[in-house]
Amino acid sequence: MKRPTTFAIALSSLFVTAPLFAAEAPASKLSIYDEVGLVEPTRPLLQQRLDLVEQTIKTLIPQMTLAEKVSLVHANGKFTTAAIERLGIHEMWLSDGPHGVRHEIERDSWNSANWSSDDSTYLPVLTAVAASWNIDMATLHGAVLGSEARHRGKDLILGPGVNLARLPLYGRNFEYLGEDPYLASKLVVPQIKAIQKNDVAATIKHFALNTQELNRTGVNAKPDERTLREVYLPAFEAAVKQANVYAMMGSYNEFRGTNANQSKHLVMDILKGEWGYKGLLVTDWNVDINTVDAAINGLDLEMGTDVANYQDYYLAEPLIKMINAGKVPVAALDDKVARILRVQLSIGMMDNHRLGGQRNIAAHRVAARRIAAEGIVLLKNSRQVLPLDQSKVSNILVLGPNLDKKHGQGGGSSEVKSLYEITPLQGLRDKLGDRVNITVMRAQSSQLAPISNDYLATRHWTGTPSWNISYFTDDSRQKLIHESWIADSEFKPSSFTAKDAQQFITMKAAIKPLESGVHTLKVTAKGKINIKIDGKPFMQYEGDSLEVVTKNISLMGSKDYQFEIDYNGTDGYTLGWDTPNKLFNSEAEYLSAAKKADAVIYFGGLSHSDDRESIDRADLVLPNQQDEMIAKLIEANPNTIVFLTAGSAVEMPWKDNASTIVWNSYSGMEGGYAVADMLFGDVNPSGKMPFTLPKSLADTAPIALNDYNATESLYSEGVFIGHRWFEQQNIKPLFSFGHGLSYTNFTLSNIKLSAASISQSDTLNVAVTVTNIGKVAGAEVVQLYLHDKKASVERPEKELKGFAKVMLKPGESKQISMQLTQRDLSFWDDKTNDWLAEAGEFDVLLGTSLDYIHLRETFTLK
Ligand code: BGC
Repeated sequence: MKRPTTFAIALSSLFVTAPLFAAEAPASKLSIYDEVGLVEPTRPLLQQRLDLVEQTIKTLIPQMTLAEKVSLVHANGKFTTAAIERLGIHEMWLSDGPHGVRHEIERDSWNSANWSSDDSTYLPVLTAVAASWNIDMATLHGAVLGSEARHRGKDLILGPGVNLARLPLYGRNFEYLGEDPYLASKLVVPQIKAIQKNDVAATIKHFALNTQELNRTGVNAKPDERTLREVYLPAFEAAVKQANVYAMMGSYNEFRGTNANQSKHLVMDILKGEWGYKGLLVTDWNVDINTVDAAINGLDLEMGTDVANYQDYYLAEPLIKMINAGKVPVAALDDKVARILRVQLSIGMMDNHRLGGQRNIAAHRVAARRIAAEGIVLLKNSRQVLPLDQSKVSNILVLGPNLDKKHGQGGGSSEVKSLYEITPLQGLRDKLGDRVNITVMRAQSSQLAPISNDYLATRHWTGTPSWNISYFTDDSRQKLIHESWIADSEFKPSSFTAKDAQQFITMKAAIKPLESGVHTLKVTAKGKINIKIDGKPFMQYEGDSLEVVTKNISLMGSKDYQFEIDYNGTDGYTLGWDTPNKLFNSEAEYLSAAKKADAVIYFGGLSHSDDRESIDRADLVLPNQQDEMIAKLIEANPNTIVFLTAGSAVEMPWKDNASTIVWNSYSGMEGGYAVADMLFGDVNPSGKMPFTLPKSLADTAPIALNDYNATESLYSEGVFIGHRWFEQQNIKPLFSFGHGLSYTNFTLSNIKLSAASISQSDTLNVAVTVTNIGKVAGAEVVQLYLHDKKASVERPEKELKGFAKVMLKPGESKQISMQLTQRDLSFWDDKTNDWLAEAGEFDVLLGTSLDYIHLRETFTLK
């Protein structure tokens, strides 16, 4: 898709002083790019380009008609904006998403464009970046994403996401950077910079307070101002002030009674006022706005609105009408156009020096593997079962749903069509070859499991095996409310429909049996269910219990059967089956194998059937009775390694009995290699939890405070999000924020503060020595928490205000230093509406986890 170049750079003699998006400083040290074999993009003519931006905007806008201006502020394709070719303004192409460039769809529909060349590197999800606690991993993530987006001809990549994991049930936690505002802020900045170095605009999302999927488009977020400023905005603020982010996406929810995209307070007062943001604000896809409020309160670009004609967008014809009626000043429109042009000019859309990017290259996969490895967290290793020794194990038993599950094409808008995805099983097989015998066993849970995706022949536009689901207003199924796709042959009520309301849904998919013979279909449903196969009635059931109803059918292998399921009810249903050949091992079989094996690894956790856009989980329990199975395996073999992959917290009732627990995020196309490396000690784990793992859902703030519903979120815990809540309430979690073990041990010593007392404008330097006292090389994350000893408001017991990851050989020591600024010491003061660092004593706490503080020192702020 070649675009004509324009005259912008030809205006070469024009010189504007302060560019609004500053050029980045050249990198100083040997960079992480070199380590993975990536070429760090350089843009020799960047400064000249940026110098021309404002003048070019001033030249272009007066030449536009009203209609042309308006054409730029709304979509004219699912992910495209209009061009004004006579002025050299091109279509702008946007694309999901945060973990790789999404597949190509048709311009005006969600249907696949059926490209065979739109696969991309599938990166570990952002939670893995957060678990790495390493800004270099954030840089790598951004570098790959930006380069691949450019290569696919994209201008805005819709990521990264920084909504905080307030509620562990939230379906999208896996897309974000954990629960801590400081951690998220520090990681998002290098990521954005690395994306934008590729002449692509990063789009930080979702501004702001998108912390639940339950009624995500209607829930009214009403945090108090201090909570907003201290917890939910810092990552966005850092993106604007420190990373010069070019684009930002609003969120679906309301903020204090109006949609966040048109909130005067969020957008005009804070984002564009106080923070001086010069980039563009784009809506999320199909938000609930109105023309005048959106136009006046700073929304720049409307995308995804669910109308047939782009002219019917709120910021299309209706905007022209409002301008003509004097309800919206032209200046407001000009500002939007200026912001859109500013982004386009800054990323080189109007010059011929733009970078071209690269895709699916080996270095991108090296980067993906490195991030995956650093994102694995060793939670428990009490019998030193890990690392496994290749020379000592000859029989490994592997089980569990994530053993060979691929996650890339699930989860919603963050899905990625990747070239391949290495599962843990494949990672182990490739590492161990024929030397080690790997026995795979599948344990059937006593709960009915949906039909495995392996049998699904129907795919949605992503290539993901999926069921098509339609929501209707009533049993007649004449009026469609909403149509979507889901991965499994089960229905759980979602946020698209009110809770406890009667649902009328129809699900359709083609099922392709892998073998011929008698299949036993099994259903549990509360409500009425009617199943047709190839248009013929097969099974009907109406009931109120969860009994399993079965019926046999003879099916041919490799033939497609059209399944159609009508369901009326409130609670949902599951359709499962038994296939002719035994798919599962009996409990006796796998427990006996577990007793004999040299190593037992259970790969459990969640999948994107649980962690996904549009729905929150109902609880923190591992699905399909995994807990029961894990407990039995541990009993049979106390050295069982419980390896969990998930996007947010799960309960672990068997934790005390388990000797070995590992936490992993959806770890991208190379994930299985990273997993095998970590299990066999080729990689020493160095990840730390980016969110708290609670013992039970009831321990978490939104649930304990009864502040999770479809109507409004009060953020009643205030600034006490996540680990801060657990400390305030004195609740012991399962595993703390910041926790993560290594195959070696570290000590911290020699804490040194640069001064015992500082004034408001001083920066305090905190130095500490880290030593690897073990036998293998490894990396430790030093975490700096601040404790304000006396304040006029209640402050968290500990606030994360610094961290550094340091790699050390056995016996090696390094001194690291971290800086504390006035802002780090401050809280948001409601009286003055400003940050306030109160004079007094502060403790600096240095640890390797929130609950493992090694050193402390006190200083005074004058
Ligand atoms: C999601 C966004 C995404 C957009 C476009 C929305 O449903 O909330 O994160 O970027 O769709 O696919």
